[in-house]
Amino acid sequence: MINDKKVLFSGMQATGNLTLGNYLGALKNWVNICDEYECFYSVVDLHSITVRQDPAELRKRARQLLTLYIAAGLDPKKNCIYYQSHVSGHAELAWILNCFTYMGELNRMTQFKDKSAKHADNINAGLFTYPVLMAADILLYQADVVPVGKDQLQHLELTRDLAQRFNGVYGDVFTVPEPYLGKVGAKIMSLQEPTKKMSKSDENSNASVYLMDDTDTIMRKFKRAVTDSEGCVRYSEEQPGIRNLIDIYSACTGKTPQDIEKEFEGRGYGDFKMAVGESVVAVLKPLQERFEELSKDKAYIDEVIKENGEKANYYATKTLRKVQKKVGFPERIR
Ligand code: TRP
Repeated sequence: MINDKKVLFSGMQATGNLTLGNYLGALKNWVNICDEYECFYSVVDLHSITVRQDPAELRKRARQLLTLYIAAGLDPKKNCIYYQSHVSGHAELAWILNCFTYMGELNRMTQFKDKSAKHADNINAGLFTYPVLMAADILLYQADVVPVGKDQLQHLELTRDLAQRFNGVYGDVFTVPEPYLGKVGAKIMSLQEPTKKMSKSDENSNASVYLMDDTDTIMRKFKRAVTDSEGCVRYSEEQPGIRNLIDIYSACTGKTPQDIEKEFEGRGYGDFKMAVGESVVAVLKPLQERFEELSKDKAYIDEVIKENGEKANYYATKTLRKVQKKVGFPERIR
């Protein structure tokens, strides 16, 4: 608990461009969680170097991501938005937790298997112990809840196991985190293969709308979006393409799927796609303008980075010192 509130932690990688799916499915819904939870949103640059990165590009993207979070409405006075690499406790706790993690546990991680298949020329130890670093991220802030997608649930499960294992040996040191089950946003699917989730790493750039896409690009992507054969705007399992477009339109306008079916009764897909595209532009335009404005304000962003980095460090160090003492490291002389 911090300030009588439960703690929420989430990490995001600055690799790839955030998509409309990330925004409508997650980010947009996080804006008001800070009334209920003490929130930490870390730009997890330590995780990024498990695959090779261009240094200048990584630095640029990390700053963009941090700025984008603020542009999306997360108030940095209420939410701790910071760089993981500015808080050395992440790496230090990860080392300690490594000594409590079994090779067999890490061998089972499906993301490791996927990523090592994808980067066969660079299967490094960091990629292997990545889930331990993620556990350290979460446990360092004594997080109660973690909003994660399905693909990260296995890592969260490991985090819980490690916390319980450590607590079993040393007493109650870590809060055992749960997946965040609060209001979740719309699940947005690929515009080209609507049975697949919209992803920032999709090779087909027409499949995803990126938050920084300009109006023409957005409209073009919706024009090309895959639809179905029924020819009418109806919300059903059999029409995954139209269903996805209805979900997007609904998330952008607040209208219900039923309202939307009525609105487009007797009208073709062409009209509907235009309307969806326009509703997305109406949501992303202000976000982009705010992003541009913030990006120009170097002093402000620098101050956020400094202040939130210090705040994160404060809480991280509190946990770290406790852990170091428990495992038997000598106390610091002051
Ligand atoms: N592994 C997560 C991802 O790839 C990012 C991440 C790192 C994270 N540390 C975290 C997510 C802690 C939640 C909590 O998406």
